[in-house]
Parts: sequence; C-alpha cells; structure tokens
Amino acid sequence: MTESVTITDNRTGESVEIPIENGGIHSNAFAKHMPGLWFYDPGFTATASAASSITDLDGANGILRYRGYPIEQLAEQSSFLEVCYLLLFGELPNHEQMDNWVHDVTYHTFIHENMRKRFMEGFHHDAHPMGMLMSAIAALSTFYPEAKEIFDPEIRYKQINRLISKGPTLAAMAYRASIGMPFVYPDNNLNYAENFLSMMWRVAEPNYEPNPVLAKALDVLLILHADHEQNCSTTTMRVVGSSHADPFSAAASATGALYGPRHGGANEQVIHMLEDIGSYDNIEPFVESVKLGEQRLMGFGHRVYKAYDPRARIVKEQADRVFEVTGKSPLLDIALKLEEIALEDDYFKSRNLYPNVDFYTGLIYQAMEFPLDMFTVLFTIGRMPGWLAHWQEMLQQEQRISRPRQLYVGPDARDYVPMASR
Ligand code: SDX
Repeated sequence: MTESVTITDNRTGESVEIPIENGGIHSNAFAKHMPGLWFYDPGFTATASAASSITDLDGANGILRYRGYPIEQLAEQSSFLEVCYLLLFGELPNHEQMDNWVHDVTYHTFIHENMRKRFMEGFHHDAHPMGMLMSAIAALSTFYPEAKEIFDPEIRYKQINRLISKGPTLAAMAYRASIGMPFVYPDNNLNYAENFLSMMWRVAEPNYEPNPVLAKALDVLLILHADHEQNCSTTTMRVVGSSHADPFSAAASATGALYGPRHGGANEQVIHMLEDIGSYDNIEPFVESVKLGEQRLMGFGHRVYKAYDPRARIVKEQADRVFEVTGKSPLLDIALKLEEIALEDDYFKSRNLYPNVDFYTGLIYQAMEFPLDMFTVLFTIGRMPGWLAHWQEMLQQEQRISRPRQLYVGPDARDYVPMASR
C-alpha cells in the first residue's frame, strides 16, 4: 500500500497521484494537474493551513502537547514564562537562558506614559476591556516603528518581549480605567502572575502581597491557554502576519478574533449561561432548549477535541485549590450537574460534545473576583506566546501571503442600469 491518494477528474479521465506527507496532501500537486478546481472548505474544517512543530493536538484522544511536552506535565511542573520560552524557541530553557528571558520580559513591563495618560484614559467609562486591549496592542505599533523590521532577529525578539510583558500591564490598565481607579505601575520584584494581580488589585498599600495559591492558579491557567495550534485567533495572526505587517498589528487582529463568543469570548458566556440557569431545577429545561437548537451549551464542543479537552480537566483541579481560598462558587454545583447530564445525553454524546477549556475557567476567574468582561482579556494574555510562536514560525518558513481562492456563485456579467430605468 503506497502512502498516497489518486484523484481522477472524470470529465477528462486525467488522474494525479499525490503523496501523503505528515498526514496531509499538498494542494500544489492537485492544482498543477487540475487548474481552476478548488477545494471548498469555508470554515477550514478539513484544511491544514500550516505545517507546524509548535503544538500537537490529538482531538480523538484528548491529547495536547507543547513542543512534545504533555500539557499535564507543564501545568504541574513548569511556569508560564518557561512555557512561553518553550513555545517560542522550541526547547526548555537552561538556568542562564531562563534568567535572561525572565529579565528581558520583566524589563519591558512599563508602558509609555502617553499610552497611559492619553490613550487608555480616553476610552468611554463603560468601554469593554477587550476593545481597549485590542486597540492598545495596535497602538503599540506606533511607539515602536522598528517593529516593521520583522526579519531582524534581535528586533523581532524585542517586540515579542514587549507583547508578552506589556499584555498584563495593558490589561490591568483597561480594568482600572473601567472602574475609575488610578493605574498601578508594574512591580518588577513580583513574578509574572503576581505582578498582574498587583496591577489589578493594589489600592493604597505600599506593596501588594498576592495570595500564592491564586497566583499559582493564574499561572497554570495562562499555561493552559498559551497555545492551541491553528485556532481562529492563531490563524488570524498567521494570515495578517503573512502580509509582513508588524507583530503589534497582527496581535491586535488576533485579539479581535479571540473576542468572539464562539472562541475566546465563550468563558464569559459560560457564566452568563450558568447564572441564567440559576438552579438545579432549570438544568433539564435548559438542556432541552439546547437540543432543540434554541441555544448553545457554552463551554462545550470543540472543532478538534472529540473527547474531553485535557485542559478542562486540569482547570477543574485548579478550581478546587482556588475555592479552598476563596470559598466555593455558587455556580459550581450547577456546572457540575450540567456536565453530568450533558455527558449522559445522546444529543451531546452523538456529537462528541465535551467540556472545553472555557467551561470551568470562568468559575475560577469569578472566584478570584475578576469581572466577567476581563475573562477574555485573561485568555489574550495567555494566548499571546502562542500567537507569537506561530507568527515567528510562519516567517521562518518564508510562507507566501495568505490569499485563498473562492467559488463564485454571484450573477453573470450584466450591463449598468441607469437610475431612470430601475
Ligand atoms: C475555544 O480552536 C480552538 O482550539 C479554540 C480553543 C483555543 O484554545 O483556541 O480551544 C478555545 O474557542 C474553545 C471553544 C469555546 N467556544 C464555546 O464553548 C462556544 C460553544 N461551542 C460551539 O459554538 C462549537 O462547539 C465550536 C464553535 C467550539 C465548534 O464549532 P464547530 O466545530 O464548527 O462545530 P459545529 O458548530 O459545526 O457543531 C457540530 C454540531 C452541530 O449540530 P448539528 O448541526 O450537527 O445538529 O454540534 C452542535 C452543532 O449545533 N454543537 C453544539 C455545541 N457545539 C456544537 N450544540 C450545543 N452546544 C454547543 N456548544
């Protein structure tokens, strides 16, 4: 048996044999022999848009690995900044590499004062933090015009640092602006997650002392969100990056994609859903309404996972640790019962619908007192290294600009009709 497929155009009898490589077949071989014939795949449900060595998903078996390392081991033994390094540079750092990396990320946490005073304070009082964050990330491109030198490794490294280190600062600024509180400057004596909590919650105390359990839980959640191969927002990062736009413009576009309720916005929607359900008695009627197609079970289902999202399992473990500190979320029992019922129901089983990463994360964020509209902002901070790793990989692969074709289904040629004749 040869590792290939043969495609025959029955109109001409022309056949082409295409080798199967790394689980796929290259469209070039097909396009050369059958020009003008396109694969129609609008949601990319069966299309590989990249050859990547960053993250491996086995959706059938619920397996997730970053550069070959299982997510369970990284969540248990690594840190978010170490995972950022792994995703970006392909290997776990040694002591010296890690020290330099942490120094470089820590060194870039501050934001230009114009961003703070004139930009972030310029938003309307009820601006959604995701809209503020997306805009602020794009605005960073105006402060660092050298970022356009995307093929200069040192300049590229510096922008990667800036996007990873400034994410929490911008995110906390968006939150503080939304509640009319003064911004808190980064405290470079704290680690990445602790510093974010300090910029979020510090009031008048000279130094913020984060709860170590909550800081650790946040660090683990950032690890779980760090990358997920060619999801909607990462695909956006690659597509925009393929035009050789600067990384701030590409990351702002990816943030916009993540904002959508079908993608990163789901964690916020899960809480709305659980609050709307409100009690055990309403779970069954809610499930029935989902099965009738009237609404979706947010936090369930996934394009790739047709088994339990391995991240959701880890999030559930973290939730127990957080609730020991914060007290149990009143919505947890509803979420657990909803999961129990859904996993037994044929509608969900037949469609391979399981909890995804968003189903339980919102409960943790809420218990940590993050407001709902900050949940997807947290997802953005976590996903930034994944976006940047894919952007960098795409540049190093010298990929052509992303420009898909289409099937034209519009009207044939027709002549202009003057207004008097319409
Ligand atoms: C993330 O890509 C990634 O990796 C994303 C992510 C990442 O880390 O980047 O993992 C993060 O975005 C997780 C997903 C968060 N979104 C949600 O939880 C929103 C709810 N889920 C869905 O909207 C949906 O499951 C998607 C968007 C996640 C996946 O959509 P697909 O692959 O396009 O699946 P589909 O919409 O074609 O659904 C297939 C069937 C349909 O039923 P039928 O038409 O066959 O009868 O399953 C049904 C859908 O109606 N279905 C659901 C459902 N999800 C799918 N029915 C009820 N509730 C749901 N949540």
